[in-house]
Amino acid sequence: MAESVTKQVPEIRLDPLGADHHGEAARMRSLGPVVRVILPGDVPVWAVTEHALLAQLVTDSRVSKDWRNWSLIQDGTITDEWPLVGMIKVTNMVTSDGDVHLRLRRQLTRAFTRGRVEQLRPRLNEIVSALLDALPGHAVGGVVDGVVDLRPHYAYPVPMQMICELVGVPVDWRPRLRESVDSLVRTNATAEEVVATQRDRHELLNRLVELRREEPGPDLTSALIELGESDPEALSQEELIDTIWMLVTAGHETTLGLIANGVRALLTHPDQLSLALDGDAETWSRVVEETLRWDSPIGNFPARYPLEDITIAGVDIPRGDAILAPYSGVGRDPAQHGPSADRFDITRPQTKHLAFGGGPHICLGAHLARLEARVALPALFARYPHLTLATDAAELPPVPSFFSNSAATLPVHLGTPNPT
Ligand code: HEM
Repeated sequence: MAESVTKQVPEIRLDPLGADHHGEAARMRSLGPVVRVILPGDVPVWAVTEHALLAQLVTDSRVSKDWRNWSLIQDGTITDEWPLVGMIKVTNMVTSDGDVHLRLRRQLTRAFTRGRVEQLRPRLNEIVSALLDALPGHAVGGVVDGVVDLRPHYAYPVPMQMICELVGVPVDWRPRLRESVDSLVRTNATAEEVVATQRDRHELLNRLVELRREEPGPDLTSALIELGESDPEALSQEELIDTIWMLVTAGHETTLGLIANGVRALLTHPDQLSLALDGDAETWSRVVEETLRWDSPIGNFPARYPLEDITIAGVDIPRGDAILAPYSGVGRDPAQHGPSADRFDITRPQTKHLAFGGGPHICLGAHLARLEARVALPALFARYPHLTLATDAAELPPVPSFFSNSAATLPVHLGTPNPT
């Protein structure tokens, strides 16, 4: 599929199984500041490999986020059967520019301000506490010495319950939505799986909109439906469906990864864990920021499309090509974080990272994600202070994806809990 590309720019094929995000990012960096990346299906895109270049790229107004500007979609090379199409061909704020982006983002900004998010804390505490109570019940082989997988039983339900309550998704619909998100981020899915997932997702979201139209509640779906009905210019049906989808996806897959990666980082760095256990809320906020920098749950995010020919670090990128944002990769860029960039260190003085992106598309849910992780992580270790990994960290299987950077399972021994 790839037409001939500029010969002197190094090329790398991303591993669709996401087996070694950080090793791959280090290899990309060693090849140069801008590399040619080959995606499944031999689809050629670009990636910048340095923090400073990514920080510029996300604020560059010559670069669009709208997939309609990708020449391989325009000329029909990429079809709806391409396995990664579900991450790209959506119509919401993530994939829009300028006034359209502002219109779609403004509708939701108020729901995610620091103040509004802080009001969710009591409900979050309840959810976390109930999940912690339930953990021993999931232990296979005895409560203290048995094994619990923290990914499905803690890291996932904390953000999933929060976002589904905000969006108004009924409890029994959530597992199907989760399956859909899971299949979306997997970069090793087959064409048939992709088409089936897209169909399933559309059907589910259309039913959700019907349900909330008939039974409105104090949730974001009902609010968006009302907005679209009172002013069709404000939100089309397609934008409504894709916005709800984006909220559910962005609202849990990422934070699930953050909580799981935070637990893994602490359990594999006992010195940092004991600093955290001896610390206060500020220390836990450092844990969260360092996890975001060192092991960002977003690996490589699609995509940006130059609206004119541009040059980045001496490399010419033609108009209409696609550029990936390697968020987890730049978190360990030594040019930004110094020679110790590879080390997980919650005491590092400078933790500025790009895990939430930057520029006009900076993460809308950053306050919510931070709150969830700042509550879920200390609560877990306060209740189960003797928590240990039940397997060697190197054995933890990765999520098969270059979009998501996290372990697919997180088996632990709970140890003796603290009394509640
Ligand atoms: C640790 C958790 C999270 C991480 C690491 C994360 C990361 C990001 C990043 C990197 C972007 C920018 C993508 C780009 O355009 O290149 C983004 C955008 C976005 N995120 Fe998050 N996110 C997280 C949690 C959340 C949550 C909880 C929500 C809940 C609503 C959310 C909603 C969004 C939305 C709506 C956008 C699109 C903003 C726009 O295009 O204007 N995110 N996120």
